[in-house]
Amino acid sequence: MNKLFTNLMGWVDARFPATETFEYHMSKYYAPKNFNFWYFFGVLSMVVLVNQLVTGIWLTMSYNPSGEGAFDSVEYIMRDVEYGWLLRYLHSTGASAFFVVVYLHMFRGLLYGSYKKPRELIWLFGMGIYLCLMAEGFFGYLLPWGNMSYWGAQVILNLAGAVPFVGPDLVQWVRGDFLISGATLNRFFALHVVAIPLVLVALVFLHLVALHHVGSNNPDGIEIKKNKGPDGVPLDGIPFHPYYTVHDLVGIVVFLAVFCTVIFFFPDGGGYFLERPNFEPANPLKTPPHIAPVWYYTPFYAMLRAVPSMFASAFPGVVVMGAAIAILFVLPWLDRSPVKSIRYKGWMSKVWLAILVFSFVVLGYLGVQPSDGQTFGLGNTTLARILTVLYFAYFILMPFYTSLEKCKPVPDRVTGGSH
Ligand code: HEM
Repeated sequence: MNKLFTNLMGWVDARFPATETFEYHMSKYYAPKNFNFWYFFGVLSMVVLVNQLVTGIWLTMSYNPSGEGAFDSVEYIMRDVEYGWLLRYLHSTGASAFFVVVYLHMFRGLLYGSYKKPRELIWLFGMGIYLCLMAEGFFGYLLPWGNMSYWGAQVILNLAGAVPFVGPDLVQWVRGDFLISGATLNRFFALHVVAIPLVLVALVFLHLVALHHVGSNNPDGIEIKKNKGPDGVPLDGIPFHPYYTVHDLVGIVVFLAVFCTVIFFFPDGGGYFLERPNFEPANPLKTPPHIAPVWYYTPFYAMLRAVPSMFASAFPGVVVMGAAIAILFVLPWLDRSPVKSIRYKGWMSKVWLAILVFSFVVLGYLGVQPSDGQTFGLGNTTLARILTVLYFAYFILMPFYTSLEKCKPVPDRVTGGSH
């Protein structure tokens, strides 16, 4: 059997670099030995990506992408298709899971300065992925043709209408009709099922090629390639396979246990993963009393609402919302610190990172609250304005506090590591 396998691999390797690729990316890819909890979320993002692709393909088999049939076909999937309810919940709750793991994955990047030289491109490809995910979530949300699908798309598409001069024409061009209709649904379906997933998968591929070219960062922010043994292997590195493949499997099992608990017991996440008005068909004559996007967009939605309109136009809010995402792209060039990891940065970086997380989370909460309510004794709009300023301050002041603060000395070799 062994001989047969060796012969087979010899045949393949003479024609295709199978063993070479496996060695380069797995068994001879030396990853730092001190990876911690935060390093699970890259592989978990891949698990959720595969889940979305597979369940998406099966949902497409029974879904009807038309204004007349979409809502009913989703009900048909939920009630009549064998295990259709499971496929749908895996996909709809999977979307929320995707953002949970990706937000934690991005936070790890901020924590350990993983976006800094030489990993700027990994970060930029990651940001491309993040944009695709946001677009994918938005287009996908219209497909069940529920009332929140309809009105959510209405609110977001109208934002394009705020663009000076070309706005109204732009909205009509994107909608493909004078109002959101079956034509809009058809194009959103094409984008959600074919175009964006292709770009997404290509970007994930590039993300990993860039990662394996420079090697992974780690919680100490030390370049392990700078300390090699006589055999050329980094002294603080261990082969990704079998050490991290087995290690990651543990993380995957724990994640799946949590994910399945949500799928089986709280599939709609109390109205946060699947919003209540979406259990009613789209109705252009009935606006839901309180329109709010799904939780993963709400920090940006809160910023949009916080910015006062100018000449009755929401354009300033749209610009601020766009800038809140765009500024993440230039992060690698804002951080002037001589060290990467938060472990060795000064107190100002720590305080600002805490402020960023606080503002993002509270803005996320405010995004689902009515703007005229109160939180922490302040009006929701006033609080959202303060937090929006703090969110931007983290980035805009970064060149100053990272170059002014006193950092701790970074050790030559990584600390800790359970392997
Ligand atoms: C579909 C979504 C994504 C997938 C499948 C994915 C996959 C991965 C994997 C497998 C790794 C290596 C393991 C790890 O370090 O955790 C990684 C590293 C990394 N990712 Fe992602 N990623 C995704 C999205 C993003 C996003 C949105 C960003 C940021 C904007 C990002 C930034 C990074 C960075 C900076 C690293 C290097 C981390 C380090 O070495 O410390 N990724 N990614």
